[in-house]
Formats: sequence, C-alpha cells, structure tokens
Amino acid sequence: MSEGGGVRVQSGLVLGIETSCDETAAAVVRGGRQILSNVVATQIALHAAYGGVVPELASREHLRNIVPVVRAALAQAGVRAEDLDAVAVTTGPGLAGALLVGIQYAKAFAFGLGRPLIAVNHLEGHVYAVLMEGGQVAEGPVLALVVSGGHTHLYVAQAGADGVMGYRNVGRTVDDAAGEAYDKVAKLLGLGYPGGPWMDGLAVAGDASAVTFNFGQIKPRDGEDGVRFDFSFSGIKTAVLRYVQGRGMEAASEQRRVALGAGMTPAEALQQYKGTLLDAEVLNLIASFQGAVVGNLMRQTFAAAEHYGVRHLVVSGGVAANRELRRRFTAEAAARGMTIGFPGVGLSTDNAAMIAAAAWPRLVAGESAAESVAAQPQLRLG
Ligand code: KG4
Ligand code: ZN
Repeated sequence: MSEGGGVRVQSGLVLGIETSCDETAAAVVRGGRQILSNVVATQIALHAAYGGVVPELASREHLRNIVPVVRAALAQAGVRAEDLDAVAVTTGPGLAGALLVGIQYAKAFAFGLGRPLIAVNHLEGHVYAVLMEGGQVAEGPVLALVVSGGHTHLYVAQAGADGVMGYRNVGRTVDDAAGEAYDKVAKLLGLGYPGGPWMDGLAVAGDASAVTFNFGQIKPRDGEDGVRFDFSFSGIKTAVLRYVQGRGMEAASEQRRVALGAGMTPAEALQQYKGTLLDAEVLNLIASFQGAVVGNLMRQTFAAAEHYGVRHLVVSGGVAANRELRRRFTAEAAARGMTIGFPGVGLSTDNAAMIAAAAWPRLVAGESAAESVAAQPQLRLG
C-alpha cells in the first residue's frame, strides 16, 4: 500500500475510523482541521449492565456498526469514497478484538480505493482533539495530559521539521487511570455508568473540603531520560471504600443503584433525590474525591511544565470533559501565564475526527501503513 506513486493530497479529505474501545466511530476531516462529519455509535447501554466494557461484546458490536457508521460519516459529509485522499485508523492501544474490526475494515476500504492507509496511535488522537482546533501546532513544545478511562499520561510534544509531532512520556499512572478511579468510585456509590459524568454532575452539590483523603502520591523522581511526574489513583479508590464501609453507607448505595435508573441525568437525580438518596454525606464524599483527583492531576502537570519549561498545555481524553478540572486547570494556567487548550464539544471522549486529524501531518509527510499493519493493544506513545 505504501509503494508507488508517492503521496496523493488532492481533496485534503481523510476518513478516520476508531474502534479501540466501546465506541464505533467514523469521521471525515478536511486538511486535518475542518470536521465535515463525526459519527459515534456508542455501546454505553450495552455495557452498562455489566458496569464496564466487555471485550467480546465490544468486538461483536463494532462488527455490526462499522459499515453503517462509515456510510453515515460519508453521507453527512456529502463526500463520495472516491473523493478521499486517505483512510486513517486507530491501531492501538486498546482492546485487541475491537481494534481488529476497525483495522481490517480500514485496510480493505483503503485498498479498494487505492488510497494510503495511515495508522494512528489512539493517544496521539486525543492530543489532536485539541491541536486540530488550535489551528497550526503551537510554537514550541506542548505539555499534553491525556486523561481517560484507560490512560493517564503526560507528554512533552513538539513538531519535527516534517510537521509530525514527536512525543516523550514524562508521566503515567502506575496503577489505575483517573477515569477508571472515577468509574469505580461511582459504581461503589451506586451511581450510573459511566461514572465520570455522574460524579461531575453531582459534585457541584457537595462540599469538596468535607473529607480529607490521605492517599499515596508519587513524588517527582529521576527516570532514565529526565525527571518523571507519575500518578497513582488506586489509593484514593481504596480510601473511598474504607470511608463508605466505616460509615455504613453500603445500603444507601444499593438503593441508589436501583433508583438512579437508565435515562436519568445527574441533574434530574439531584432534583429528585437531594437530601434523601443523595444526602450531604454522599455528595460531600463525591465532591471531595473529585477535588483530590483534580488536585493530584494539577500538581503533577504544573510541576512537569515548570521542570521542562513548557508554556503550552493541552488536556485531553474523556476526563477532560470534567467541569471542575477545566475550571481549576484554566485558572492555574492563567495565574502562571501559560496557554491551555481543551477539546471542543464531543471531542473529549473517543471519536474518529481526532484520528483523521492526527493522520493529516503524517499523510502530508508521505507516511503510510504497511499492508501487514496489525492491532497493537499495548502501543505506547513516546
Ligand atoms: O477517552 P474516553 O472516551 O475513553 C478512553 O479512552 O478511556 O474516556 C472515558 C472516560 C470514562 O472513565 C468516563 O467516566 C470519563 O472518561 N469521563 C469523565 C467525564 N466524562 C467522561 N470523567 C469525569 N468527568 C466527566 N465529565
Ligand atoms: Zn480514548
């Protein structure tokens, strides 16, 4: 696929395909910036019953969705397949069987069209969810915090002479991802799935200073190629569990599990149950948990920015949708005279527009994937 003919950049149109976890997504993006369509078929309802993503179910659902989702992305963009310059697909990290569906489909699609296939790292996609909206890549290095259900990573990133970004990992979680901690605590408290948006929605009604958590935090330390700013979130999850057990809050969690049914939003739940099922004790606990997690993310991120002398921040991934996180990171960046960017609406959580955007500089630089490209569940960035 990579041989012969060089790069063909004509329409600037790239079809992105993303199936690394529980969203089947396709998008058409022009020139790495202009989103013509961004279709996401979410499997949230399917996995909600299990309280987490079931890999086998995810693959099967991707198989079912991939054709209609790609068709819808082309139709909504008003674009014919022949108009595309390239097809971009997430090759990792993610669930092996889920990745495979997108990769095989994208390969066949690109091959049939005679267009290059661009392999995209899902984590770079999250970074591009912000960079694509900021126009050209910021001058100088960028510090990117990618914070989602599966990842918590800090990268120092900089564009090379060919316009393709290079990444150096300067921090990662040593146990749970921040989003995973959100989801697990929400589950423990009997809130809806996924838990992040529920915690976000309910925390506004609680007092974040009510509960102080003592949990292990990792100090900056020397790594092989510079100081590392790692994270740990399993301690706070355990601290919440102990708090719940110590206060005998389990029965109320069970009642919430039954009452806060599907289709209800956190705001509706507050309206209906504030003072009863959602009493001050649980709301304060939620707000305090969120305050501690955001505080920890901030401490490491701004310490890394200071250490590496980076003036531009990018915060991306599902947890970047969190309102408290956005508020506090924005205020702190302003106080330090740094710029900060977040993904626009619908681009925080998994989508394919970010995959098409990340592929663009690679396409322009003449990169394309070999026909043998395979799923890389553990793929790293930098
Ligand atoms: O990026 P994403 O869609 O998938 C992964 O690559 O993991 O992120 C999903 C994660 C989930 O853990 C979800 O609970 C969390 O992002 N999330 C949030 C919010 N919205 C989604 N966490 C906190 N506050 C939110 N508003
Ligand atoms: Zn993601």
